[in-house]
Amino acid sequence: MRSAKVASAPSVSARNGAVAGLGVVVMAAGLGKRMQSKKSKVLHVVAGRPMVLYAVSLAQRVAGLSIAVVVGHQGDQVKEIIDGAFGAGDERSAIHIVTQAQQRGTGHAVSQSRPVFESAGRRPPSHYLILNGDTPLLQEETVRELLRVHRSEGATVTMLTAVLDDPSGYGRVVRRRPGKGSDGSASPAVLKIVEDRDASPDERAIAEINVGTYVVDGAFLFSALDKIQPHNAQGEYYLTDIVDMAVGQGHRVVAVPLKRPDEGLGVNTRQQLAEAERVLRERIRTRWLNAGVTMVDPDSAWIDADVTIGKDTVVYPNVMLEGRTAIGEDCVLRSSSRLTDCQVGDRVEILDHCVLHESILEDEALVGPFVHLRPGVLVRRKAKVGNFVEMKKTDLGEGSKANHLSYLGDAKIGKGVNIGAGTITCNYDGARKHKTVIRDNVFVGSDTQFVAPVTIGAGAVIAAGTTVTQDVPADALAIARSVQSNREGWAAKQRALQAEGGSMREVSRPRKEAAPRRVGRVIPARMAVNLTKKRKR
Ligand code: UD1
Ligand code: CA
Repeated sequence: MRSAKVASAPSVSARNGAVAGLGVVVMAAGLGKRMQSKKSKVLHVVAGRPMVLYAVSLAQRVAGLSIAVVVGHQGDQVKEIIDGAFGAGDERSAIHIVTQAQQRGTGHAVSQSRPVFESAGRRPPSHYLILNGDTPLLQEETVRELLRVHRSEGATVTMLTAVLDDPSGYGRVVRRRPGKGSDGSASPAVLKIVEDRDASPDERAIAEINVGTYVVDGAFLFSALDKIQPHNAQGEYYLTDIVDMAVGQGHRVVAVPLKRPDEGLGVNTRQQLAEAERVLRERIRTRWLNAGVTMVDPDSAWIDADVTIGKDTVVYPNVMLEGRTAIGEDCVLRSSSRLTDCQVGDRVEILDHCVLHESILEDEALVGPFVHLRPGVLVRRKAKVGNFVEMKKTDLGEGSKANHLSYLGDAKIGKGVNIGAGTITCNYDGARKHKTVIRDNVFVGSDTQFVAPVTIGAGAVIAAGTTVTQDVPADALAIARSVQSNREGWAAKQRALQAEGGSMREVSRPRKEAAPRRVGRVIPARMAVNLTKKRKR
């Protein structure tokens, strides 16, 4: 497979930005009751990617030491998704899955990760980055800025905040009253974080919220977590209580407000999920527009987070590019097609209304309109597929064509082959799948069925209407169809009878002397023609 040339886009797993001494904890154990779902919240998908992967991907880009992902609800599935996306990883950024058997709060969740960082023989992190698993809009540059501030301020706890029009549901950032103890700088010092459910009416009126992203001093974190108590409305161990504790012990706590508050969106409800989707889609489109992709109607282009698109490709309205789809340069993607996990070369044209899954289209292929490619299709250079053709696990050779109303499954088709309209590979016998092999330059006439397994030699011709049940030698003609008989004057007689009010049955009754039908035998073309002629009278 050739690698599609891709316009420059930030790499997901670049390792050069690792921050020395930084361990990362991702909290992803909660069910997320407010989602009203059977599925664990972090498994819900935003722009084609389960939410947890945004946090883990961010962790991977900044972690200098280990990453602990705390899982609980459907932990096995969360682990599977992380393994699938990031594999084993290198030593420094190794991802450790930690199970929090009972969800007793965010503080309790982080406590569970302690053995990952403090196991014998390993140098514990000098500081930790802690991420909520439900904040998919958070950007790497923002986290790097948070880390920078943490270091430059010599802080014990540094946290991200956002000022929102509607802060309801979030923890509020309570600051010292202005004036008292003010050092003259912009914002008064942070005192504590109060959860929505525990807040007084005055505290609820505070518009500054806790985003759920923290940098914490390595020596402080777990000793503080040892001391927190579940004395609150939910009876949980709140991570946020370490802020109060640090302030009480005279440590420096710094809050960094987001420049773009939407980055702090925490997904607790389906509405917030939809909002995250909207913001992320918009961001993805902007990225590809800036990288040289034309979108005729950007608002209607649906591009998943892991998709790549080459320069000068044109995307028409209502195109969906899903999963790990990679599109090359100078392609044209016409309206209302959906590509999932496909590899598309350069100068490929996909006409309207195609559904393509896990397939490869090489350079200059032409696909559509109305094509369904199921997994495992390879459309080689300059090959054409269109007009109601379904394919599965099929290799269509260079320059070959399957242009009308066909089903091609489990087939290997060579170069320069013409697949006539209505061709069907009968690949399934009710129990097993069988292969059809069609070698180079075969001409397949319309309405042909290949009863697999069957092999057609190079340069052979299959007559229209043939059911192929045996291998065909190279350069041979295969024909197998019932023989035609013409009844002179039959139609005219029928029309006359109808006009006189007669019954149609009188003329349509089968004739006793009808010729025997020759079905399923291969008859050379000339012989077939002679038989037909002889029966004429
Ligand atoms: C949390 C913060 C709140 C902040 C908000 C930002 C606490 C106590 N509150 O509230 O101040 O404004 O995030 O979005 O931290 N989780 C676990 N184990 C648990 C509980 C939660 O792993 O026992 C995980 C969840 O899966 C989720 C994250 O921690 O990814 C946050 O939990 P969630 O219940 O959504 O906290 P919020 O109520 O939103
Ligand atoms: Ca949340």
